[in-house]
Amino acid sequence: MRTLAIINQKGGSGKTTTTVNLAAALGDRGKRVLVIDLDPQASATAWFGVADGGKGLLDVLADRAELIDQVQATATLGIDIIPSSTWLAGVEKVLAGEIGSETVLKRKLKKLPKDRWDYLLMDCPPSLGLLAISALAAAQEMLIPVEAHVMALGGVAQIIKTAEVVRERHNADLELTGIVACRVDGRTRHTQEVVEQLRAKFGKLVFKTVIRENIRLAEAWSFAQPITVYDSRCHGAEDYRALAAEVVRQER
Ligand SMILES: Nc1ncnc2c1ncn2[C@@H]1O[C@H](COP(=O)(O)OP(=O)(O)OP(=O)(O)O)[C@@H](O)[C@H]1O
Ligand SMILES: [Mg+2]
Repeated sequence: MRTLAIINQKGGSGKTTTTVNLAAALGDRGKRVLVIDLDPQASATAWFGVADGGKGLLDVLADRAELIDQVQATATLGIDIIPSSTWLAGVEKVLAGEIGSETVLKRKLKKLPKDRWDYLLMDCPPSLGLLAISALAAAQEMLIPVEAHVMALGGVAQIIKTAEVVRERHNADLELTGIVACRVDGRTRHTQEVVEQLRAKFGKLVFKTVIRENIRLAEAWSFAQPITVYDSRCHGAEDYRALAAEVVRQER
């Protein structure tokens, strides 16, 4: 099972859109995917149309429950999810001062059955707090979505620096799988420039696929369907299928 944290501390960078639609595109290719929604906003949970997880994930992080008991099936081919809820917003308070709280998730992940899923995608909240650090401590790989509308280089450098610390302390295996430019608008010079700068700075770490600005992606959320189901022929579906193909090609 490949374990990926979808991470960027900047809000609205495309994490949830990428988690949900990459998962669905992997599912379309016959991969079995477990999504863990680590964001108290629970947007990925809502997108898959499942009930929120109540205190479930909070209890896991507080070492009072197991991940496997939180798994819910979704209506999307190949996808299961561990849902989030607003309860997760209290995690920093609940675990304040607890030794080793950043590595509870890592420990719990190791107890999941090895061969039930091919991919595990963790949707992180927009911060580098305990939830995101827990994801980095538990993941083998991180995938960074970057909103191409904004100057994103500094933000990416900060994640990489944080990951460096996590690698030293908790997770020597953590690798950067790739950076994906999201909301790319071919008509504006500015978006093109952001993508060019990302490629200049991070080279091959930037996926060839860019995710174009596509209103259908925003609509799909309100219909609680991944883009591959909501409109499988739109640009958004095409782009996430292309991203899934690149991610699968990285398999060793
Ligand atoms: N390719 C796209 N085309 C059009 N809209 C998009 C695209 N990608 C994301 N969006 C929209 O941008 C907003 C932010 O996207 P998303 O929720 O995926 O970001 P996020 O990083 O998960 O945000 P947060 O940090 O709040 O969790 C959403 O309204 C989403 O519908
Ligand atoms: Mg999100």
